[in-house]
Amino acid sequence: MKGGVAKSTTVYNLAAGLVKFKQQRVLVVDIDPQGNAAASLGIAIWQLSKQLKDVLQQKASMADVVVKTASGVDVIPSNILLAEEEIPISGRPGRELLLKKALSPILKNYDFILIDCPPNVGVFAVNALMASDELIIPVDMSYLGLLGVQGIEHALTLIREQLDHPIAITGVLPTRYDRRNNLSKEVLDALKEHFGDGMFETIIPETVKIREAPSHGQSIFDYDPNGTGASAYHQLVEEVYGSK
Ligand SMILES: Nc1ncnc2c1ncn2[C@@H]1O[C@H](COP(=O)(O)OP(=O)(O)O)[C@@H](O)[C@H]1O
Ligand SMILES: [Mg+2]
Repeated sequence: MKGGVAKSTTVYNLAAGLVKFKQQRVLVVDIDPQGNAAASLGIAIWQLSKQLKDVLQQKASMADVVVKTASGVDVIPSNILLAEEEIPISGRPGRELLLKKALSPILKNYDFILIDCPPNVGVFAVNALMASDELIIPVDMSYLGLLGVQGIEHALTLIREQLDHPIAITGVLPTRYDRRNNLSKEVLDALKEHFGDGMFETIIPETVKIREAPSHGQSIFDYDPNGTGASAYHQLVEEVYGSK
């Protein structure tokens, strides 16, 4: 329910880390027309011959669209053309299950499939949730970040009750934490009070290196392996892998 909270940053670094440190077979599915997760993994998203949109339109299979990246992560990319499909797809029967159905033939090829969501709860985000067993909720350290959590909880209740799909929360992840900033500490305390054990222990700090890494098509582990950003995302890899 909010942009800029580090959804895409977390998807691509977590994916790269699961390959690098745990030798997992990982697929990233980019169901956000901004295409940030795919672009951060070094894919030229403005010149895709095939993309997720073609799969959702049933013109291609996932296997036709998958791109292998230098990080070892496989990616189903998207770009802005996906946005044009939102209204046509919204009118189709079975619209909530298009992604889940398209993924089923390739599930066996992967240990983890990470889906990067758009910031709004529309047909794409619902497809992502319906295709998922678990959800990671990144929250940036702002008041609006907290409001976004309430929005996502509402959407999850709808999914559980109206679409009859159970979904577990792997964890709520504090992101963009700045320890010099009082608001960061206040938001973190409020999250801990609300979610308790549902929080990851990992806290992702705000760092220049995390922000710069995508422009080099590199994960934080390759761009700045010894920095605080890499060690925080490494800790997240351990937590996610350990919860599997
Ligand atoms: N921990 C961080 N430190 C510094 N910049 C960050 C951090 N996490 C994300 N960013 C930057 O913030 C912006 C938004 O992050 P992004 O992952 O694209 O958010 P979302 O996918 O939720 O919209 C990007 O420019 C990204 O590089
Ligand atoms: Mg994003």
